[in-house]
Amino acid sequence: MIELDRAGRSFKVRREVVHAVRDLSFGIAAGEFVGYLGPNGAGKSTTIKMLCGILTPTSGTVRVAGLDPSRRRTALARRVGVVFGQRTTLWWDLPLRDSFELIRLLYKVDRKIYQERLAELTETLDLGAFARTPVRQLSLGQRMRGDLAAALLHAPDVLVLDEPTIGLDVVSKAGIRDFLRRLNAEQGTTVLLTTHDLGDIERLCRRVMLIDHGRLAFDGTLEELMATAPGEETIEDVVTRLYTGGAPPERAPQR
Ligand SMILES: Nc1ncnc2c1ncn2[C@@H]1O[C@H](COP(=O)(O)OP(=O)(O)OP(=O)(O)O)[C@@H](O)[C@H]1O
Ligand SMILES: [Mg+2]
Repeated sequence: MIELDRAGRSFKVRREVVHAVRDLSFGIAAGEFVGYLGPNGAGKSTTIKMLCGILTPTSGTVRVAGLDPSRRRTALARRVGVVFGQRTTLWWDLPLRDSFELIRLLYKVDRKIYQERLAELTETLDLGAFARTPVRQLSLGQRMRGDLAAALLHAPDVLVLDEPTIGLDVVSKAGIRDFLRRLNAEQGTTVLLTTHDLGDIERLCRRVMLIDHGRLAFDGTLEELMATAPGEETIEDVVTRLYTGGAPPERAPQR
């Protein structure tokens, strides 16, 4: 479903070249739920932008649902849903349901299918109470549920998430996790989840990829990830080790 072959993306910043992603190769099969981890600035969002055609790779190839994202952005949009937790794709001044209607028109979703889908998403994401509220008046958790629904209205095969649980309280977070787990299990939607919340990873992802300085540093199951640092008990400690290049995590002096 997703295929990267030695994909790279660099940026020219004044006279310097920043290699945000280098030589990145991986494949994600249909129906997988994959966590995408890495320290700040590792290249996660850049990867995601290449997957949805916002950025063109400067080297190598990227394929999503058999398409070259930067060349076939419109065709791809029908197959992929994307949520950037840091910013909304909804119309700020419009009620949530009007945003959804615009998305229906943009994606040319059949009205009957749309209505069924909307009813289902309204129930599972509990959107009923604020469907008529302008997006700018929504709380972060409400807005995130709205963004998730917007990304799924056209029933994409692939859902790409960049920090969808950022800033959410424990209850909202649990609700979104539960929703994503069911979406993957019941509808077979392929999910790529970027997050700094290791609880998201532990609870949802069978497979974890870790990127550091633009390169793939780990790709395997959660158990294999834990086994990279024998002696460490928590996923936080294991990931800290990987982020700091094998050095044990710093601990506060014991008194
Ligand atoms: N448009 C751009 N122009 C120049 N440099 C960029 C651009 N976008 C990203 N970068 C650089 O590429 C690197 C990777 O950035 P990216 O946003 O992919 O990181 P990230 O893994 O998503 O980090 P975070 O966890 O902080 O969101 C960083 O060094 C960043 O400064
Ligand atoms: Mg990012």
